[in-house]
Amino acid sequence: KRLVYGTLAGTGAYVGYRAYLFQQRVKLEQADDLVGVLPEGRKRVVVLGTGWGAMPVLRGIDSFKYEVVCVSPRNYFLMTPLLPSVAVGTVETRTVCESLRSMLVGKKIKFYEAECQEIDPKRKVIVCGENHKVHGDLGTMRESDKDVSKVVAKSSSRAIADSTRTRPSFELEYDYLIVAVGAENQTFNTPGVKEHAHFLKELPDARRIRAAISDAFESAAMPGVSADERQRLLHFVVVGGGPTGVEFAAELNDLVNEDLNLVHKKLIDDVKITLVEALPGVLTMYDKSIAEYTMKHFSREHIDVMANTFVKGVTAQSVKIQKKGEDISEIPCALVVWATGIKPRPLVDDLRKAIGEAVQSNRRALVTNQYLEVKGADGIMALGDCATIDFPKMVESVKILFEEADTVKDDRLSLAEFQALVKQKAHAYPQLEFFTDAVERHFKEADLNADGYLSMEEFHALLDKIDKKIKILPATAQVANQQGMYLAAYLNSIDPNAEDPHQFFSPFQYKHMGSLAYIGSDEAIIDLTGTKLFNLALGGRNAFYLWRSFYFTEMFTMRTKMLLFSDWMRAKLYGRDISRV
Ligand code: NAI
Repeated sequence: KRLVYGTLAGTGAYVGYRAYLFQQRVKLEQADDLVGVLPEGRKRVVVLGTGWGAMPVLRGIDSFKYEVVCVSPRNYFLMTPLLPSVAVGTVETRTVCESLRSMLVGKKIKFYEAECQEIDPKRKVIVCGENHKVHGDLGTMRESDKDVSKVVAKSSSRAIADSTRTRPSFELEYDYLIVAVGAENQTFNTPGVKEHAHFLKELPDARRIRAAISDAFESAAMPGVSADERQRLLHFVVVGGGPTGVEFAAELNDLVNEDLNLVHKKLIDDVKITLVEALPGVLTMYDKSIAEYTMKHFSREHIDVMANTFVKGVTAQSVKIQKKGEDISEIPCALVVWATGIKPRPLVDDLRKAIGEAVQSNRRALVTNQYLEVKGADGIMALGDCATIDFPKMVESVKILFEEADTVKDDRLSLAEFQALVKQKAHAYPQLEFFTDAVERHFKEADLNADGYLSMEEFHALLDKIDKKIKILPATAQVANQQGMYLAAYLNSIDPNAEDPHQFFSPFQYKHMGSLAYIGSDEAIIDLTGTKLFNLALGGRNAFYLWRSFYFTEMFTMRTKMLLFSDWMRAKLYGRDISRV
C-alpha cells in the first residue's frame, strides 16, 4: 500500500511540476507576443556591465517603458564572494555563474557580449570593441599562465582557433547610460605583479589559481627535488589583508588541512601560507574585535601574518618584502595571490577626462550626485565600484537651517529638537533626512555629560565626523546591489520628459546590513556595527552558519542554489577535487 501511495504521490508531484513549467513557458511566450504593443519613442537605456550593480538594474527596470540594451564582455553574473572557494575547489565554477540570457528571459532586453571602449558624453554614444578578442579565450591569457594552460590547449585545438576570432566594432546611441563596469586590480605599479602574481577578481583567475596549487604540489612531489626547492614550491603568499586576501588564505588552509594532507602526507610539513599586510593587522576596515579575533584564529591555524610589511616586488620564484624600518628581503615561494584593492578602469578614467577634470576631480571614481547621476554629463548614471557619491556637506546645511529657524536657545541642542527641526524643513533640505539616522547613532556617543544636550560646538564636531565617515561608501557588492535596485526604481517611476524628473523621488540612501567574511576551519566573522539591526561583532562557528545561509539565499536561482548545496555537501563528504583539469 505504502509503495502504491508513494508512487502516486511522486507521480502527482512530477506532473504538477511539469504543469508549472508549462505555465511559465506560456507566460514567457505571451510576454514575447507583447513586442507589438511597445510604446512608441521609448528612451533607450544602455547598461554597461553584468555585475553586482548592473544585475539589479536589468532585473528591476521596466523593459516596456524603456528600450534596454546591456553591453558587457561577460555574458554571466558572477557570485564574486564565492571566488576564494572556487580557487580551492570547495565550490565549482558553474555554481557561481548565472547565465545572463537565462535570467532575462521574458524581459525585452537586448544583450551584446562586447567591451565598451569609449564613451562620448557629448554625442551620447558608446563605442564597442574594435577587433575585440572573444573574452576568456586562451589568447587573452597572461604569458605566465601559458605553461599551465598548454596541457589544456593541446587537447582542445578548437579553443586555440577561437582565440583568433574577432567581432566587429559598433556604436550605440543612448538616452540614459548606466555605467556599472566595476573596477580593476590595484597593483600600485609594483614590479612583477602583472607578470607573476595571480589576481582573484574573475572566474579565470580562480581557475588558474586552482591549477597552480595542484601544479605546485605535483612539482614538489617529483623525485630529486631538493629540500629548499620543495619548501619554495610549497610556500604560498597572499598579499593584502583585506577580505579577499583573508578569505583566500583561509580557504587555502582548509584545502591543505582537509584534503591535501591525505594525498600528499609527506609534503604537508613543508607547506607554509603567509599573508603580507602593509597595515598593523588584517581586516582593519571592520570592528577592532573582529580584526583581533581573525589574527588569533590565523595564528592558531598556522597562517603566518606578516603585518607592517610592504610587498615591493614579485619575481617568478619569490616576493620582495620590506618590514617597516628594515631592509628589503626576499621570500621564495611558488604562488602569489595579489589582493591589495581596486582602481578605476581606463574606460572610467577616460570618461572622467572627457567630462572635464574640473567637475570630475576625483581620480578614483566617477563623481555622482545623490541620484547617482554623473556630474557634468547629461544622461549618464554610475554606480558600484566605479562611482562615488558627492554628499552635500552636512555641517553647512545644518548651519543654514539653524540660522533660518532661530530656535536654538542657550547654544544647546537635544536630539529631539534636531529631529523636529529636520522634520519641519524636510521639503527644503531633503539631504538632511538622509543623515538623521547617522546623527541619532552618534548623538548618544557624543553626549558626554549624558544630559541629552550637546553644545553647538560639540554638535558641529559630530556633524563633521559624520560628514567624513559618510563621504565614501565602501566598494562592496552590498552598496552596488542597493544602488542598482534604486536606479531601476528611479527610472521606472520618473517621467523622462519632465523638466526636473527627480523632484518626487528621494535621493539614494545606503542601508548598511553588516559585513561577513570566511576565516577558515568552519569559522566566519560578522560585523553588524553601524547597522540598524544590532551593534554586534562576532566570530566563530555560529557566524559561519550565518555566512553560509546568507550566501545560499543570495544565489539568484534555484539551479545555482542546488549546485551550491551539493558542492558544500560533496566537499564535506568526499573532499575537494585536487586534480589539475
Ligand atoms: P582592500 O582594499 O579591502 O584591502 C587591501 C589590503 O592590502 C589593505 O589592507 C592594504 O593595506 C594592503 N596592501 C596594499 N598594498 C600592499 C602592499 N604592497 N603590500 C602589502 N599589503 C598591501 O582589498 P580587497 O580585499 O581586495 O577588497 C576590495 C573591496 O571589496 C573592499 O572594499 C572590500 O571591502 C570588498 N570585499 C568585501 C568582501 C566581503 O565583504 N566579504 C569580500 C571581498 C571584497
